[in-house]
Amino acid sequence: MCGIVGYVGKKDSLQILFDGLTRLEYRGYDSSGIAFKNGAGIEIYKTSGKLKDLQKILPTPLPAITIGIGHTRWATHGAPSAANAHPHTVKGVSVVHNGIIENYRELRAELAAAGNVFSSQTDTEVVPQLIARYLDRGLPIDEAIRGAVAHLRGAYALGIIHEGTPDTLFAVCNDSPLVIGIGTDAQYIASDVAALLPYTKNFIHLEDRHMAVLRSSGVDLKHVESLETLPIEGKVVTNNWTPAMAEKQGYDHFMLKEIYEQPQGVMDTLREWTDDTNRLMDEMGMTGTIKDLRRLHIAACGTSYHAGLVGRYMIEKFVHMPVAVDIASEFRDMCPSISKGTVLITITQSGETADTLAAQREAKKKGARTLTICNVVGSTTTREADSVLYTRAGLEIGVVSTKAFTAQLAALSLLGIALGTRKGKLSDLEIQTLKAFLLDLPRLIRQALQTDGKVKEIARTLVGAKSMLYVGRGINYPIALEGALKMKELAYIHADGYPAGEVKHGPIALIEDGVPVVFLATIDGLHEKILSSIDEVKARGGRIIVVTDSPAAFHDKADDMIVVPSTHPALVPFVAVVPLQLLAYHVAVIKGCNVDQPRNLSKSIAVDDKCHNIVCSHSGYCRKSIACAVITPDEKKAIANRVVRLMRVSPWEQLSASSLLESSGQQLQKEVHQEQASKGLSTCFESPY
Ligand code: AGP
Repeated sequence: MCGIVGYVGKKDSLQILFDGLTRLEYRGYDSSGIAFKNGAGIEIYKTSGKLKDLQKILPTPLPAITIGIGHTRWATHGAPSAANAHPHTVKGVSVVHNGIIENYRELRAELAAAGNVFSSQTDTEVVPQLIARYLDRGLPIDEAIRGAVAHLRGAYALGIIHEGTPDTLFAVCNDSPLVIGIGTDAQYIASDVAALLPYTKNFIHLEDRHMAVLRSSGVDLKHVESLETLPIEGKVVTNNWTPAMAEKQGYDHFMLKEIYEQPQGVMDTLREWTDDTNRLMDEMGMTGTIKDLRRLHIAACGTSYHAGLVGRYMIEKFVHMPVAVDIASEFRDMCPSISKGTVLITITQSGETADTLAAQREAKKKGARTLTICNVVGSTTTREADSVLYTRAGLEIGVVSTKAFTAQLAALSLLGIALGTRKGKLSDLEIQTLKAFLLDLPRLIRQALQTDGKVKEIARTLVGAKSMLYVGRGINYPIALEGALKMKELAYIHADGYPAGEVKHGPIALIEDGVPVVFLATIDGLHEKILSSIDEVKARGGRIIVVTDSPAAFHDKADDMIVVPSTHPALVPFVAVVPLQLLAYHVAVIKGCNVDQPRNLSKSIAVDDKCHNIVCSHSGYCRKSIACAVITPDEKKAIANRVVRLMRVSPWEQLSASSLLESSGQQLQKEVHQEQASKGLSTCFESPY
């Protein structure tokens, strides 16, 4: 999700565009740019990095302008760089874009074959290329824009200025938000009202397939296919929000906004591939891997790990292939043997989580092919993995992950269907059925969001809870884990998730009068078993909260019921997780917890356990050095195992690996020195070699 702004008016400082971008920076901030007319042509400034980096290259003092466009980027196609930053300009046509042009690869190939040269890797650049092509054929600018837009498939909000068309800013949108700000002697465009509130309270939310033609004197609306002029009356709305409020778009917290953005995140993640999952394998460069694919391994942390557990159910169901799932920090320390034909899938919202990164590096070193499912373009895991499958949840600001989770489930279901299709494990009917269910998910998630009121009522009664249990079976078990994690990290209530069948093997001892137990009981072949677990807990005074798609089956058992819509058994987690996110959110808000920045947590844990040797700044690697006196026993064991393997010492000697460590200090120093050198890291101890 990017932020775009545009201005046409009598005369104002470039500051107006820069301030607009600043208010939209929460949408994306990995690169940015501004273009404006300076009387002689179009002046363009673009850079990677935050807006403050753009400010450094802008002329000082900022010039007065009459027309300009700006963009702050959340990279989707082409890593963050000045070349890939917007605006993209071709032959005097300059364009900023928010959204995804699905068929950009075909259009790029066609335009390149016709001799057009591209200067970026973005999907966006096809737009000015196409407009310029129609201008070259002598068409007026609005018809050239119409011609270009007719080729586009996907989501796009566009801001366009043309060197040869004075005092005119064009805006077009389809399935991507764009507002027109109505002023007296100036008109504005922006991705949302946040950017424009200081200048006007009157807005038009541009409808799909409509084009706005803005001049300093006013705004015309046209249908982009017919160019027929459309009435403005009745379209202007007044918005009295404060700028601060606008960033959260009226929600009290970023987390709640992101929970409500899940339908869009799932849709955007599915949109590119649902038509042709086969192309997904090609795009990920995995076609060659399929035939020798023997083993799938997933490694991730926190909420992403829970997505991995759901992914295992989906992939095993669609591909009939065993999938191992590990918590990344355990994966890297267990150093599992990687056999030929293994693909390691890392799942990570940020793409920077150190344990996940280390697991990916470890597996790669051992010859596994690596695929990362990630939400941040250009992040480290995406740069190092052999293949990347992007989730399109957009910028996730809340420390607690919500919309990235359901987008990860969407990516995993796509991967499962693509692998199942290629391996011939899914019939055409199954594929079509699954795709139909997938495309219906955004609607069903919106329905699940309507439980918000009911969930809030239940939340009020949980504020005093000291501990909670979440229980689910099969594909709902990971959702029980996710619900418990949310209650822990947001409301600081100790909560655990368990498979329903496991409760009687211990956790039931925690049940006494009033202990809240959340049961995920969506109708699948397993709900009978859930009924008996409910009875066991109820008999010991537990308070039964049921999340189900079939209230009739549980109405006489549950103390509280949250009803979610039914869907395909392999896709139930998409709807079942929503009330659990809301439950933890409301309990936390009522308890006065900081929902967007919970205590002791950070959005992405990019630093590995820092070297305990205080004089050393290296993270992760160098703490293997003998000089670091305070390495942990586990680390010692892990290092010793490596030395043992290196020195081919028989297993029983492994037991005394730690003594081995002491005695083989010299060997270890050499080994660590080589490893750090191979990673271009200078060692933290003076190497004797
Ligand atoms: C989830 O709400 C937490 N923020 C945390 O568990 C997170 O999922 C974990 O740190 C993994 O982060 P990643 O997806 O960015 O790798």
